[in-house]
Amino acid sequence: MKQVEARLLLGDCRKELKKLEDNSVDLIFTSPPYADSRSHTYGGVRPDKYVEWFLPISAELLRVVKPTGTFVLNIKEKVVNGERHTYVIELILEMRKQGWLWTEEFIWHKKNSYPGKWPNRFRDSWERLLQFNKDRQFHMYQEEVMVPMGDWANRRLRNLSETDKVRDPSRVGSGFGKKISNWVGREKAFPTNVLHMATETKNRNHSAVFPEDLPEWFIKLFTKKGDLVLDPFMGSGTTIFVAQRMERNVVGIELLPEYFKAAQQNVKPVVEARPAQLALLERKGKYEAGKSK
Ligand SMILES: C[S@@+](CC[C@H](N)C(=O)[O-])C[C@H]1O[C@@H](n2cnc3c(N)ncnc32)[C@H](O)[C@@H]1O
Repeated sequence: MKQVEARLLLGDCRKELKKLEDNSVDLIFTSPPYADSRSHTYGGVRPDKYVEWFLPISAELLRVVKPTGTFVLNIKEKVVNGERHTYVIELILEMRKQGWLWTEEFIWHKKNSYPGKWPNRFRDSWERLLQFNKDRQFHMYQEEVMVPMGDWANRRLRNLSETDKVRDPSRVGSGFGKKISNWVGREKAFPTNVLHMATETKNRNHSAVFPEDLPEWFIKLFTKKGDLVLDPFMGSGTTIFVAQRMERNVVGIELLPEYFKAAQQNVKPVVEARPAQLALLERKGKYEAGKSK
C-alpha cells in the first residue's frame, strides 16, 4: 500500500497556490464559484468581472500542472437579464492566450434533474467540464473508464453490413477510420464525452457539492496511484477525499473556515490536518471501484 499525503490549505487560492511547486500536479479538478450564483452562501464574482478574476488563478494553475498533467474545470454560465452570459466562452479564449490548450469539453448530464420551466427556457440539466492541457502529450488512461458494451451493441453487431467488415475511412479526410466488426465479442467499449451522473443528494455541509462519481471518473482517466491531485476550490472536499480513497496524493484549498472544517472531516483518516500544513494520511479501506493503476 502506498502512503498518500493530503495537504489542506485554508485561504484564498490566489495566494495559497503560490506555495506549490512548478510542474508538480498531475490533475487539477475543480468547481469554482459560478460567478455570483451562490453569493448568499460563499460569495462570488460578478459575471462581467469573472474572467479578470480567474486569469491570475489559471496562470498559477498553468505553472503548477505538469506538462503531462490535465486541468478539468467544472463550470456553467449563469443567466443574466434573460440571456446566457458569455464569461465561460470568454474565459476559454483568454486561457488559450495564456498558454493553455483547450483539449476537450465533457458534458455532465444531471440525470436526476427534476422537471421545471421558466417563461423563456427549460430546466438546466447539464454542466460543462472543460479540459485544458499544457502540452499535447498528456497522460490519459482510457482503459480505466471503459463501459460495458450493452444490448445496443449486440443488436448492432448481429447484422453487419459489408462496410462494417472493412475499415471505413473518415469522410472528412482526417485519416481516422472505423471497422465495426472489430467490436464483435468485446465486452467493453470506450465511453463518450457525455457523462450521465446523478447529482449528489447527501448533505455534506456544502450547498454546491458535486457527486463523488464525477471526480472519480476524471481521476481514473488522468492519473494513477501515487499521482498528485489538486482542487483549489475544495468546498467540502469531494475531489480530495475521493482522490485519497483512490490512493492519490492530494492538495485542497478552501477560502471559508466552515467548509474547510467540513473537508477536514471528510478527508479521513487524518493523522494530522492543520491548515497550511502537510497532513499525512493513512488509508484504511481499499479502493475497489476500478482496477486503477
Ligand atoms: C462550487 S464550490 C465547490 C464545491 C466542492 N466541489 C464540493 O464538492 O464540496 C466552490 C468553493 O470555492 C470556495 N472559494 C471561493 N473563492 C475561493 C478562493 N478565492 N480560494 C479558495 N476557495 C474559494 C467557496 O467557498 C466554495 O466552497
